[in-house]
Amino acid sequence: MNMPDAVQPPPVFGNDAVILVTGGAGFIGSHFIRHVLTRTDFTGTVINLDKLTYAGNLASIADVDRQFGGGRYRFVQGDITDRAMLDGLFGRHRVNAVVHLAAESHVDRSIHGPADFIETNINGTFRLLEASRQAWSGRADVRFHQVSTDEVYGSLGETGQFFETTPYDPRSPYSATKAASDHLVRAYHHTYGLPVTISNCSNNYGPYQFPEKLVPLMLLNALEGKPLPVYGNGRNVRDWLYVEDHCEAVWQILTRGRAGETYNVGGECEKQNIEVIHAICEVLEELRPSRKGRYQDLIAFVTDRPGHDQRYAINCDKIKRQLGWNQRHDFAGGLRATVSWYLQNTAWIDGVRSGEYRRWIDRNYRERTS
Ligand code: NAD
Ligand code: TYD
Repeated sequence: MNMPDAVQPPPVFGNDAVILVTGGAGFIGSHFIRHVLTRTDFTGTVINLDKLTYAGNLASIADVDRQFGGGRYRFVQGDITDRAMLDGLFGRHRVNAVVHLAAESHVDRSIHGPADFIETNINGTFRLLEASRQAWSGRADVRFHQVSTDEVYGSLGETGQFFETTPYDPRSPYSATKAASDHLVRAYHHTYGLPVTISNCSNNYGPYQFPEKLVPLMLLNALEGKPLPVYGNGRNVRDWLYVEDHCEAVWQILTRGRAGETYNVGGECEKQNIEVIHAICEVLEELRPSRKGRYQDLIAFVTDRPGHDQRYAINCDKIKRQLGWNQRHDFAGGLRATVSWYLQNTAWIDGVRSGEYRRWIDRNYRERTS
């Protein structure tokens, strides 16, 4: 465990605070709410504001709803671009903190159609900032935390790392909209004094991830005996972090981070995509051996993603040094837990694999192989 190197500021808000989480029916948001309510000493209330797009799923947070629903946990279905709805929410609840995760989050979808990304990620963040600024005027017991990505820093070659000071250089419509929203968040701090923090995190994996992202897509395709589509040569590198470690980082930044600061969060676990896919196949061979041949034989190299970022690598010394955060899960343990979860939670999987999901996955594969 790292020890923080600076004297910690007093907590921004008390234990009985109200935290508004946007995107809490998504992958990371649902883990974050579970983390706050079950693994910290927080005794206040969490409001989950989510539009329930194709990626939002109340089944991902059903356990929390059963345990805390109607009391310390409330769900509100709404769109962050709806300013009147946001004002109503801030009017009804004395919100102390916003943890902003709601976003369109998939790079391939942003390439096919960027419009929803502009609307939610840029305009939605803008409206949320405006609603917070108006509701919080004159209050000191408040915080706005923006959950962002390492993808805003661009693409690395074989060497180097992203630091908090690395200039933004986004290259996909997704990362461009995340970069724009980060700039707005920072501008609201400098211009209006809104007490904000930002985290830029690397690729997350774990239970409840929508199966359009690399890890769950490969896992579920393998189980169905379908091709495992590797973009390009499979040598693109991502840094992998187990989702619960990300949630703990966000909690520490929210409660102990310094207003106006950015913190990088990462797994210090760089892997080529092909290595990740082989690792998934190996865990599957062990936990659910295939009767129809080896999972590895399903690997299919397909047309590359346009503008595919080559490598991400994040330096997260600052959060380790200043807040004492550390990763608790290594890749082997985290991946095993993830594979086991998907093997056991077939009802959740059937629920998310609706008609819309199938159409997207099939179209994406067809376009990359034709
Ligand atoms: P996700 O796609 O699983 O979930 C996004 C959630 O936001 C969904 O529940 C969806 O319904 C909701 N949402 C979308 N548009 C909305 C709107 N207009 N109003 C209200 N709710 C809306 O995404 P995720 O992977 O959980 O990512 C969450 C956040 O973390 C995003 O901001 C993303 O950029 C960031 N992030 C993700 C990763 C990663 O590896 N997944 C890494 C770093 C940062
Ligand atoms: P993804 O999970 O979409 O996350 P991101 O693009 O935000 O990093 O993809 C992770 C990596 O895996 C990325 O380099 C693209 C690659 N990839 C494939 O090779 N095949 C696939 O089917 C998918 C979805 C991703």
